Amino acid sequence: MLIAGNWKMYKGPAETAEFCVELRRQLADLEGVDVAVCPPFTSLAVAVQVLAGTDIAVAAQNVHWEPEGPFTGEVSPQMLLELGAYGAIVGHSERRQLFGETDEGVGKRARAALDAGLSVIACVGETESEREAGETEDVLRRQVSVLEAEDNLVVAYEPVWAIGTGKNATPEIAQEAHAFIKGLVDVPVLYGGSVKPENAAELLGQADVDGALVGGASLDVESFAAICLAATRS
Ligand code: PGA
Repeated sequence: MLIAGNWKMYKGPAETAEFCVELRRQLADLEGVDVAVCPPFTSLAVAVQVLAGTDIAVAAQNVHWEPEGPFTGEVSPQMLLELGAYGAIVGHSERRQLFGETDEGVGKRARAALDAGLSVIACVGETESEREAGETEDVLRRQVSVLEAEDNLVVAYEPVWAIGTGKNATPEIAQEAHAFIKGLVDVPVLYGGSVKPENAAELLGQADVDGALVGGASLDVESFAAICLAATRS
């Protein structure tokens, strides 16, 4: 079971330090659940520093496929490793929708990060109109087709209509999509999309839900810790 907090473009270094000191304190006795935080690039170093010596991992929100080069605005797997990050998210729907990332690019990011020794959380998920048009399985099949199963890869199923909307997938919808994804690529699958302390236990209790990628509710240390605790009971 993995609970990862995707902070998106929130929390600079000072706020990150404060959050991580408190998270470290609140999760001191947590057992049986892997926990990761994914701050913005500029806050990764301080998170790594404050969480050193704990089991709480630090991951980036994206990563490029080249080790270095003329790629303005990008960060390489080797740079993240040097910093002490354990992994990176790739293919988040905000990257796909707002920054034009493609399945091909997501596949290259995942491949290079895994080859370099990072863990990868690769996000997939359909939009509301794709679900309504009955295209969910086609979309998932296409998005997963660029990924290959291996030890350090996990997929996050994040239906776009459930992200930041307060409208989470029902446990049944999540379970069905997770089982479908696992039939395509045999790796753990996290659920993401409006996960909160109130709905975490039910979602995490589904047979093929192996953890959660939490956005909004991961920004508050109490609610993120509550979700991590809920995971120990699922
Ligand atoms: P949310 O975001 O929990 O705020 O819906 C999830 C995500 O985007 O990873």
